[in-house]
Amino acid sequence: MSGTQSRLPASLTLVGAGKMGGAMLSGWLAGGLDPARTAIVEPAPSPEIAELCAARGLALNPAAPPAAEAVVLAIKPQGLAAAAPALAPLIAPGSLVVSILAGKTIADLKARLPGARAVVRAMPNLPASIGRGATGAAASPEVTPAQRGLADALLSASGLVEWLDDEGLIDAVTAVSGSGPAYVFLLAEALAEAGVAAGLSAEIAGRLARATVAGSGALLDAEATEAAQLRRNVTSPGGTTAAALDVLMRADGMPALLREAVAAAKRRAGELAG
Ligand SMILES: NC(=O)c1ccc[n+]([C@@H]2O[C@H](COP(=O)([O-])OP(=O)(O)OC[C@H]3O[C@@H](n4cnc5c(N)ncnc54)[C@H](OP(=O)(O)O)[C@@H]3O)[C@@H](O)[C@H]2O)c1
Repeated sequence: MSGTQSRLPASLTLVGAGKMGGAMLSGWLAGGLDPARTAIVEPAPSPEIAELCAARGLALNPAAPPAAEAVVLAIKPQGLAAAAPALAPLIAPGSLVVSILAGKTIADLKARLPGARAVVRAMPNLPASIGRGATGAAASPEVTPAQRGLADALLSASGLVEWLDDEGLIDAVTAVSGSGPAYVFLLAEALAEAGVAAGLSAEIAGRLARATVAGSGALLDAEATEAAQLRRNVTSPGGTTAAALDVLMRADGMPALLREAVAAAKRRAGELAG
């Protein structure tokens, strides 16, 4: 992040240590978060979380968690209303609140958690659970540059973070990267099915498609070259790839379908918000 130094908070309370919260916690601990100043609020901790807390000395469900520099909310969005009364005392006047609750706006969070002023709303995606995520984030006006640095350090532990000036764009982020992993999994699925139609066994087609999607993703990650250029680099004029791309890139082909799919997801994100 430009301009502001990112550092992990000196003290932190994580509310909800499920799939996402648990994965983020592992990333923060690996990045140097002080376990002695970290509290976990989780009514049903998994054995892994309970073990981690015991082994590293994190406070699991302390009777009264001390006010923390940052409070990260990673419960299910539909649980916010019920959880809010218990969460309010965790938020001190100077606390930064970082929420990954899908569909919950900064205004919703402030309304539910009266002490919350500095709020960052973030939308991560599934690969965040292995530190390879893509997250879009927006900050309330009360978030100071230093707090934005804290949020950036917390979210960057899960991969790429893109900051948005307009919270309204979170629905577009949801449609592109939030739901995006499913589009890529569909590509692997459809490529395998097409391989079967072309004569390969389901096993071989499945393995080839999976390795092709994963390997191409790794290449995209390793190279600074734009995706369009990487595509051109493997497309000889008149060759086999060109024959396939002529189909995929026709007027009603993959780019048009993805535009329509992303627009549908964005519309749905707007409908589900609140
Ligand atoms: N998974 C994704 O790919 C993804 C992507 C983008 C955003 N998100 C967002 O990330 C958030 C968490 O998703 P997840 O997949 O990690 O869900 P999850 O595995 O169900 O984790 C949520 C955890 O919060 C706990 N919890 C429920 N009520 C609580 C309370 N009052 N206080 C403290 N903890 C409470 C849950 O416990 P119980 O099991 O007892 O309910 C559960 O362990 C959601 O808001 C989701 O919108 C997830």
